[in-house]
Amino acid sequence: MYNEIDLDRIDINAKPPIEEPDRQYYYMAKCREWVRKFEWENGRKPTAFTQTFGCQMNARDSEKLAGILKSIGYCQAKDEEADFVIYNTCTVRENANNKVWGRLGYLNAYKKRHPHMKIALCGCMMQEAEVVEKIKKSYPFVDLVFGTHNIYKFAELFADSLAQERILVDIWKDTDKIVEELPVERKYGFKSGVNIMFGCNNFCSYCIVPYVRGRERSRKPEDIIAEIKGLAADGVVEIMLLGQNVNSYGKNLKEPITFAELLKRIQDIEGIERIRFMTSHPKDLSGELVEAMGKSKKICRHLHLPLQSGSSRILKAMNRHYDKEQYLSLVEKIRKAVPDIALTTDIIVGFPGETEEDFLETMDVVEQVGYESAFTFIYSKRTGTPAASMEDQVPEDVVKDRFDRLLKRVQAIAAIKAEKRTGSIEPVLVEEVNEQDKTLVTGRLSSNFVVHFPGTEEMIGKIVNVELKECKGFYFYGEAAK
Ligand code: SAH
Ligand code: SF4
Ligand code: F3S
Repeated sequence: MYNEIDLDRIDINAKPPIEEPDRQYYYMAKCREWVRKFEWENGRKPTAFTQTFGCQMNARDSEKLAGILKSIGYCQAKDEEADFVIYNTCTVRENANNKVWGRLGYLNAYKKRHPHMKIALCGCMMQEAEVVEKIKKSYPFVDLVFGTHNIYKFAELFADSLAQERILVDIWKDTDKIVEELPVERKYGFKSGVNIMFGCNNFCSYCIVPYVRGRERSRKPEDIIAEIKGLAADGVVEIMLLGQNVNSYGKNLKEPITFAELLKRIQDIEGIERIRFMTSHPKDLSGELVEAMGKSKKICRHLHLPLQSGSSRILKAMNRHYDKEQYLSLVEKIRKAVPDIALTTDIIVGFPGETEEDFLETMDVVEQVGYESAFTFIYSKRTGTPAASMEDQVPEDVVKDRFDRLLKRVQAIAAIKAEKRTGSIEPVLVEEVNEQDKTLVTGRLSSNFVVHFPGTEEMIGKIVNVELKECKGFYFYGEAAK
């Protein structure tokens, strides 16, 4: 666990240490000297703004960047009008990239008026060689570019980039390294993501994640437990265990351990009330995990179980290693063990070669399972993935039509599922004061549904019993139960 290290006690004129994390503390101390000089010259602290694109994994990485920025003396800015702007990028679908290119155009104009400002780009998109080439050629005003594998080196890279005029680019192809004990600045006081593994070995044929996040690496259970104990001591009540395929956690450790076993150990940590995890690959979901979920008081009644497609033929082409029947029987097993569970999913429409019949198989699974919620995506061709070079890419208008039909059904079913919960009294973890109506607070059920109910700021981070009075499709209005 990160202990507040006194950076002032580090000799920044000595040689940098070789070992991590000491080396990074040394560079944090160096950057802090630079920040002090900035303060002295400008009469104020410098500000930094981090924008996260993509998944919870990236959100957690951004908290690590924020932790380092705070240690070196930056204040957080609320938008891009800052001395230092960092985009932590995503490349899972084409539109994720487009957002970044669009915002870089805007940043260019801002930097022209504020030439002292620094810009850093990191995250998954930077792991693509074409992206880095394009930045070097067309966006030379960027100061620093790094990737997903060397994010722990942020302080060192920043120190190096301060010492040079040109753009500094440092991208690693892969790593087997996991650096522990660096500072983290959490977005929420009461809940936190916790990485349990990095990377992915599954190579689903449409997906770029294994190429940009590298091979699967699990953190040691002792390190995870120590981090969670520290979080609990710091007021965290809900944790979300993060990995691209949490069900294969621990398989490659020197002393292998299953995900279910890890969950059991985490449950014993005092102060942690709720445990969530993301994402579960259906091919690796074990009976042991289903049983652990059924018995647990702390594991949330929510399982995100990506389907991707309901057609066994397409699932095979996607390299998912399960078919329609296996998926449905898994759902049946889970529902039996955990009757009140909320199931959510991811679905891709328009994978190469998808016919109307294949699509109807997906619709059929959606009907049979009855998801509480589903994220639906239009297939996006990712350079370098096997699916990108498959024949029979589905025409755009056909995909759009299927997507609309799917979304309509998904939403209608979700509304029916939510409506069934109306009238019940359920524990809600209060997350924030409602933005639109300050007399309300907003929180989540164990099943991950959102609830708004009359309350005050003091309730944030507390678990309150709430009667669900009115269902609004995918969220509720409620009242604290007497
Ligand atoms: N590891 C997780 C998913 C990570 S990506 C898992 O296996 O479930 C999140 C979701 O993005 C995926 O579940 C998939 O539905 C979607 N996705 C990934 N690549 C995509 C692509 N090329 N086009 C459209 N959607 C994609
Ligand atoms: Fe992508 Fe498949 Fe890995 Fe998920 S399991 S990140 S969809 S390759
Ligand atoms: Fe995007 Fe990288 Fe996550 S590609 S979805 S941010 S792992």
